Amino acid sequence: MKLTVVGGGSTYTPELVDGIANRRTSLAVDEIVLVDPDQRRLAVVGAFCRRLLAHAGHPARVRTTADLAEGAEGASAVLLQLRVGGQRARLSDETFPLLCDCVGQETTGAGGLAKALRTVPVVLDIAERVRAVAGADTWIVNFTNPVGIVTRALLEAGHRAVGLCNVAITFQRWASALLGVAPEAVELEHIGLNHLSWERGVLVDGVDRLPELLDGHGDALAEHIGLPADLMRRLGAVPSYYLKYFYEHDEVVAAQRTGRPRAEVVAEVERELLAVYRDEAVVTKPEQLSRRGGAYYSEAAVQLVHALTGGAGAERHVVNVRNGGTLPFLPDDAVVEVPAAVDASGATPLPARPVGPSISGLVSHVTAYEFLALEAAVRGGRDRVFDALLAHPLVGQRATAERLADELVARNRHLLPWA
Ligand code: G6P
Ligand code: MN
Repeated sequence: MKLTVVGGGSTYTPELVDGIANRRTSLAVDEIVLVDPDQRRLAVVGAFCRRLLAHAGHPARVRTTADLAEGAEGASAVLLQLRVGGQRARLSDETFPLLCDCVGQETTGAGGLAKALRTVPVVLDIAERVRAVAGADTWIVNFTNPVGIVTRALLEAGHRAVGLCNVAITFQRWASALLGVAPEAVELEHIGLNHLSWERGVLVDGVDRLPELLDGHGDALAEHIGLPADLMRRLGAVPSYYLKYFYEHDEVVAAQRTGRPRAEVVAEVERELLAVYRDEAVVTKPEQLSRRGGAYYSEAAVQLVHALTGGAGAERHVVNVRNGGTLPFLPDDAVVEVPAAVDASGATPLPARPVGPSISGLVSHVTAYEFLALEAAVRGGRDRVFDALLAHPLVGQRATAERLADELVARNRHLLPWA
């Protein structure tokens, strides 16, 4: 099978290729094409990926190209992992909301909106060109943030797309280690939206071990998630670490005022990673990669592509899909992040237990924002940016939304097709 990775010049790509190399029996890949406009980076990352595969004795060929059509032709699946505007645009997203005492984050709040506005038009254009050469049956696996909004944009445009994030698999690996069981033995009752999710159950052999985690491993949980264990006990669920931007918004903002933006840290890690990738003596995944947030990203991707290309019977994966009544308090066409049965026909969300108001309220609120964010991304206009900001629970006030809308447009003008 041929896999195409758009944004293949990313420093994350060796993580993915390492996953493919180590799961040779489960995913028969014979060609990996890395597509990226940055030829210099692509050459370095591509050569390193070839060494990784050769060292693992994996027969897949790696090709690099700047030509999307050539790269996607005949692909069984196309993975999207791009960052429009690079770490520079991320730095802007992480800092401009602070002007109004709002959290500066690349996927949450006003920063996440800026990212959505830059990204959706680019991804839709890419998907269109992929469909033209690879056909409408080719799966698009979307890692590109903000995953919920970008995946919804793809689905609305009629693409065969599934959105993926590593939050669920990371928690699954972490919880299984703590419980002393194999990761595959843990089924998460994961609910919500991308980067706005909760684990409401941790099932091992049909037994919910979440109470044991909450009661016996509170300190470890608090450290892993960055929120107090008492809050989790009160909720009866483990929020993802992105929920601290909501539950402890003002504390996070105070810390961001003096802290170093993540974009700066990542830019430094990327420089180091590229230097390592250039070293021909290095043939395995370097330690520095673990300093990025994408742990288990490769495993999630490999498993999902395997299921979508019909490699197994229906498998259970946490993915971003159309709601279709799964969360009855949301519109059917909203995109939710929930466990789904995945096979060659796609991802079908599994039934979910009723959700109480402490979770459903916030999920509804952010779903409404995501709808308006997508409207702004597709149709453009500064007033639609304002509408989305006003609807976001972390912005919400008129004067703040006015100022942040102006800042967002001014800072991203060169990357917004309508501005
Ligand atoms: C997690 C999130 C991803 C995000 C990444 C950021 O993995 O699920 O959506 O892109 O963190 O990691 P970074 O190293 O770029 O801060
Ligand atoms: Mn994610």
